[in-house]
Amino acid sequence: MHPPQDATPPAAPAAPSVELAERAGRLREQLHHHAHRYYVLDAPEIPDVEYDRLFQELQALEEAHPQLRAPDSPTQRVGGRPLDAFAKVRHRVPMLSIRTETDIEASGARSFDARVRRELGLGDADPPIDYVAELKFDGLAINLRYEHGLLVQAATRGDGEVGEDVTQNIRTVGQIPLRLRGSAPPVLEVRGEVYMRRDDFERMNEQQREKIARGVRNEKTFVNPRNAAAGAVRQLDPQVTRQRPLSFFAYGWGEITPAEHGGPDFPTHYAALQALRGWGLPVSERTARARGAEDLVAYHQAVGRERDQLPFDIDGVVYKVDNLALQRRLGFVTREPRWAVAHKFPAQEQVTTVESIDVFVGRTGKLTPVARLAPVFVGGVTVTNATLHNEDEARRKDVRVGDAVIVRRAGDVIPEVVGVVPERRQHDAPRFTMPSHCPVCGSEAVREEGEVDHRCSGGLFCAAQRKQALLHFAQRRAMDIEGLGEKLIDQLVDAEVIRVLPDLYRLGLGKLLALERMGEKSAQNLLAGLERSKATTLPRFLFALGIRHVGEATARDLARHFGTLDAVMDAGVEQLLEVPDVGPVVAESIHTFFAQAHNREVVEQLRACGLQWPEAAPAAKAPQPLAGITVVLTGTLPTLSRDEAKSLLEAAGAKVAGSVSKKTGYVVAGEEAGGKLDRARELGVPVLDEAGLRALLERGFNG
Ligand code: IVH
Repeated sequence: MHPPQDATPPAAPAAPSVELAERAGRLREQLHHHAHRYYVLDAPEIPDVEYDRLFQELQALEEAHPQLRAPDSPTQRVGGRPLDAFAKVRHRVPMLSIRTETDIEASGARSFDARVRRELGLGDADPPIDYVAELKFDGLAINLRYEHGLLVQAATRGDGEVGEDVTQNIRTVGQIPLRLRGSAPPVLEVRGEVYMRRDDFERMNEQQREKIARGVRNEKTFVNPRNAAAGAVRQLDPQVTRQRPLSFFAYGWGEITPAEHGGPDFPTHYAALQALRGWGLPVSERTARARGAEDLVAYHQAVGRERDQLPFDIDGVVYKVDNLALQRRLGFVTREPRWAVAHKFPAQEQVTTVESIDVFVGRTGKLTPVARLAPVFVGGVTVTNATLHNEDEARRKDVRVGDAVIVRRAGDVIPEVVGVVPERRQHDAPRFTMPSHCPVCGSEAVREEGEVDHRCSGGLFCAAQRKQALLHFAQRRAMDIEGLGEKLIDQLVDAEVIRVLPDLYRLGLGKLLALERMGEKSAQNLLAGLERSKATTLPRFLFALGIRHVGEATARDLARHFGTLDAVMDAGVEQLLEVPDVGPVVAESIHTFFAQAHNREVVEQLRACGLQWPEAAPAAKAPQPLAGITVVLTGTLPTLSRDEAKSLLEAAGAKVAGSVSKKTGYVVAGEEAGGKLDRARELGVPVLDEAGLRALLERGFNG
């Protein structure tokens, strides 16, 4: 059969043949199937390029024959023209809110269970109630209306009675099916939350920052995933929404064809969620059945522990009575169901005001701007300080004294100022600038080329660094000096009893007893602690010195590699680079540290005070079978990258050079080798391919 001749004018294209219509239908089926695998189940069956190929085929078909364009076609996610305003939508079943349990401790779950039992008239002897426990997603509530399986409308919650029609935008969300799978009821309203995953949020903000840096106008970064998601859904231009990575979880329903008209008759909330999942809607894996209060408590605790590891933000959990007949018996009080409750976790974000911006000087001399805040309870603790990290960050966020700021503390993470609330800037406080001098010792503060941090140049002369250096030196993982804590260090440094590290070991009972609040017993204990700390190990001592970039692991590697302190102190950058995991920055830092006369002096004095550790012979060097041999690499090798080949050769002792000469031992040539290969042939230098290189390395090592 011939394809139909397109003889009609463009205004009214020819009706597509049955074959083409079938093909389009088949493509839509396939695309729906694969979109569900990809977006909802996170288990694609075909590579992206294959999906794109099917998609483009359908697109081409629909362009040639607009009659084939069905409203549920995956090509119709792209969204239409910008709107002037959203149309209003009256919800056929109101979107209620949910009561929040006031007790944020796990015991709040017990109060809810007790209330439900009381309202149902149950006694202690009655069996426990079955619940469904869900996450409380932190996004925007949406009602999705499906008619005969097709998504016909999406609306925000609004005031619960009337919301906004955001259908165009919602169609761009890949996780929301445009058509339900299987046989769905004629009318089904799905309720759930549109949200943004944290990784998507970070990536999007990163792109926003780049745009701003490039000078693109009207672009901004977002404060948190919730605001970003809500902003994207309420965008008038669906093309903008399309670029915002949104996700969706279903947790309930609105209008649904009643059982007597052929709709489903769910016995439980859980069964309904299973059905939604079957129709292709994403339902969280963390939705769980629970029996009685103790299961709810356990759920609250488990989710609380894992909260920071979840890929998206939640602000609590939700408990729902599972049995729908019981739900109906419980009913509502003033627009809130009695059968459900939101049980929150401590908020991870709060608004507070900046009282001042101080600059803190760290152990390594790093200057950190810190916002001093009006005390605020966030993430389970009272926060009074939040780091602004460095000058660039402080300027980017443009935090000023007197500003209202959003403070975030998630898990054990250090509290952070997420951003200012610009509408609440009262007055025009000046922009923050980094001081040019150390606020502690007055030495010049310098920001090195390519560095983000300012550093005090005062070194051990700077009291801030002296105190921190002592604290670092005395800590358990370093010299482990019992009895020497922060308070005592403050006293010793402030009274100028200790000016340099070795002064520690010159403390006598007299000097200690002269300090305020120092009893004889504590003084004796400290002296004993100091004495005990003298017998140490080389890794501990190296770590204790507080050399920039030298943590415990590096200290251990250095000790193992060099064996003695003198060997470390005298090592050049090249030798330091031979230590596993020591790169140029670390090597440079160690070398610079020991190049300073005052640092070597400190070490000598400490040794003179009796500090000692076992020393060892340096670790045996790796065999260097290719020592003295120069190798030139050219072209592309089949499996090894240029860098990999180079490191293998260098590990074997070979020198890797850039040009071929008579002295070249071997040329290793890959695909598209150029002039170097010709030159090697000219000079009679042996040429190897990758296999030859591997053989050389092996031969070298084995004999
Ligand atoms: S159920 C009648 N379940 O929290 C019960 N809500 O006021 C209706 N939310 O704005 C809500 N996760 O957007 C329910 N698993 C969940 C939820 C959830 C987040 C939001 C919802 C609403 C608010 C409750």
